[in-house]
Amino acid sequence: MSESQRVREAEKRTSRADGTPDDYLYEAAIYDTLWAELNELDLPFLLARAEKFGGPLLELACGTGRVLLPCAAKVERAVGIDRSPSMLKEARANLKAAGIDEERVDLVEGDLRTFELGQRFPLILAGGQPMFHLPTDDDWLATLQTVRRHLAPGGTFVAGVPVFTEEDIRNYDRRYLFSGEVRHPETNRRIAMWDFSTFDTDKQTITRRRVSEVLDEEGVVLERQHGLRVNFYRFPDQIRALLNRAGFRITREFGAYDESPYSTDSEYFIWEVTAED
Ligand SMILES: C[S@@+](CC[C@H](N)C(=O)[O-])C[C@H]1O[C@@H](n2cnc3c(N)ncnc32)[C@H](O)[C@@H]1O
Repeated sequence: MSESQRVREAEKRTSRADGTPDDYLYEAAIYDTLWAELNELDLPFLLARAEKFGGPLLELACGTGRVLLPCAAKVERAVGIDRSPSMLKEARANLKAAGIDEERVDLVEGDLRTFELGQRFPLILAGGQPMFHLPTDDDWLATLQTVRRHLAPGGTFVAGVPVFTEEDIRNYDRRYLFSGEVRHPETNRRIAMWDFSTFDTDKQTITRRRVSEVLDEEGVVLERQHGLRVNFYRFPDQIRALLNRAGFRITREFGAYDESPYSTDSEYFIWEVTAED
């Protein structure tokens, strides 16, 4: 079966709980290989949060468990929520492979804006930048309310996003850039990826067209697939205002995952917040 047939077959079987297509279907199996370098970026920071604030912890948009599973090893219990069945399938396989007692980790399919777990957590975190999947301010506020409902009294919510500058936009807007090659973990086929990203600075969106090519060993393209994803970015002032409106108090702001404080030329905006009583 070819790569695209495999994906189409899987598509028929997997859609999200609300019936909408699973937009991580094609990326799920290669996600951990593709984003392995992220582990050096944010993982030590997030592990330090798990050690500091303890568990049980909840990760929003846990995906394949890249962050959740190492953090789970630090606490007695952890829960991950994500709306992508294919990412959760990878997370279940990773959980098994990591040899963590399966009783200690719950992987739940749900939407950040609406999930209800009926339990509270001293620490809620979000690895990667899932907040940029939320299209509108209302989606942010709905997610932040959901976080509040699940936060134990005095608990901490930690998440971060990159801060885009005019220079980033100049460097990435409407350029066709090679973004790497990986081997598919199941088929062992070479997959090369190219991204064409379009920034809309009024709407604050980045539309990424990812062109994935399946190559033979000589580099001949066997298949080519185009996938579109829209991300919705926010700037630190806008995020502060949303956190504020949702009743959170910022306790710390970082500008990088090495824990340096946030300043206006920081590459990241990372927040630790608690809910107002
Ligand atoms: C870039 S991945 C990050 C995964 C993981 N946190 C990490 O750092 O590796 C983004 C994840 O967010 C999930 N996601 C996006 N919007 C969501 C929503 N509204 N509700 C639940 N999950 C969502 C996607 O399914 C995907 O697994």
